[in-house]
Amino acid sequence: MTHIPVILDCDPGHDDAFAILLAAAHPAIELLAITAVAGNASVAKTALNARRVCTVAGIEGVPIAAGLARPLHGAGIVAGDLHGESGLDGPGFGEPTVPLDPRDAITLLRETLLAHPVPVTLVPTGPLTNIAAFLLAHPDLAADRIDRIVLMGGSTGRGNRTPAAEFNIAADPEAADIVFSSGLDVTMIGLNVSHQAPAAPDVLTRLEALGTPLSRLCVELLTYFGTTYREVFGFAAPPLHDPLTVAHLIDPDLVTTVRAPVAVELTGTHTRGATVVDLDGVTGRPANARVGTAVDAPAFWDLIIDAVRTLSDRATPPSSPAPRANR
Ligand code: RIB
Ligand code: CA
Repeated sequence: MTHIPVILDCDPGHDDAFAILLAAAHPAIELLAITAVAGNASVAKTALNARRVCTVAGIEGVPIAAGLARPLHGAGIVAGDLHGESGLDGPGFGEPTVPLDPRDAITLLRETLLAHPVPVTLVPTGPLTNIAAFLLAHPDLAADRIDRIVLMGGSTGRGNRTPAAEFNIAADPEAADIVFSSGLDVTMIGLNVSHQAPAAPDVLTRLEALGTPLSRLCVELLTYFGTTYREVFGFAAPPLHDPLTVAHLIDPDLVTTVRAPVAVELTGTHTRGATVVDLDGVTGRPANARVGTAVDAPAFWDLIIDAVRTLSDRATPPSSPAPRANR
């Protein structure tokens, strides 16, 4: 089995948490580092949440660094309506034992790419601020040492932050434009895919049946996320967007992709942050990305359940849970 070296850039975030678990658990992935970005919550909170997830899942030896606190342009946005004040509301977490790396995210990205013997896959599951900043700061290193970028963001259809824009792109459209214009091998897995694979009740039942502290924590995460997704969007079950990126790396056939031109709207009054995907080739523009169009949902959930089972035997239950209220 090939080991795909991965750096996960994320904004945990309930679904980011499952991307961390899947990347750490599956033997096809070599999780080299985690970088946190402002998105679902402040970067201080997303970095803390990444540490919390790694602590409870027994994920050790993976450096976690905090990235940029604001988008390249304008003010940041958060998603407390879906993820809570902490960015990972629901379960009670004790103090993380996994430390924060003293380096900032851009430095950790640079040093990890330089140190690894082969080019690395970047998996951004939050706003693309860190990735864009890295590409701007180290263009030669990016060209030589990044194999591909498989990101969760955008949509071939409607958005979720605005009717036109998906949250990760809406949070930093200029950063997304830099990534899609980079000439790198970019794969976009958007809402049009993630909404095809909601965490239906049988997923929670299967997780519950594992009967471990980690599986119970995952049920709490999905239960909270399901409640907010129902309240905000009226969804019967929450889509788990971010781990679809990792699942696609593990099994490329799990998410069907087509090559297409993707343009990021930067100036539209009502459409800023939209990913304009020319699936029919009507613009004549060259394709600059592989775009997800469909997903094998049962295969995806099998991967998630297996990942939680794999990590469960080395997970440490959260110590004396903090109160559930916003922390
Ligand atoms: O729109 C969904 C995306 O925005 C996910 O990555 C979620 O974690 C939030 O970051
Ligand atoms: Ca995310």
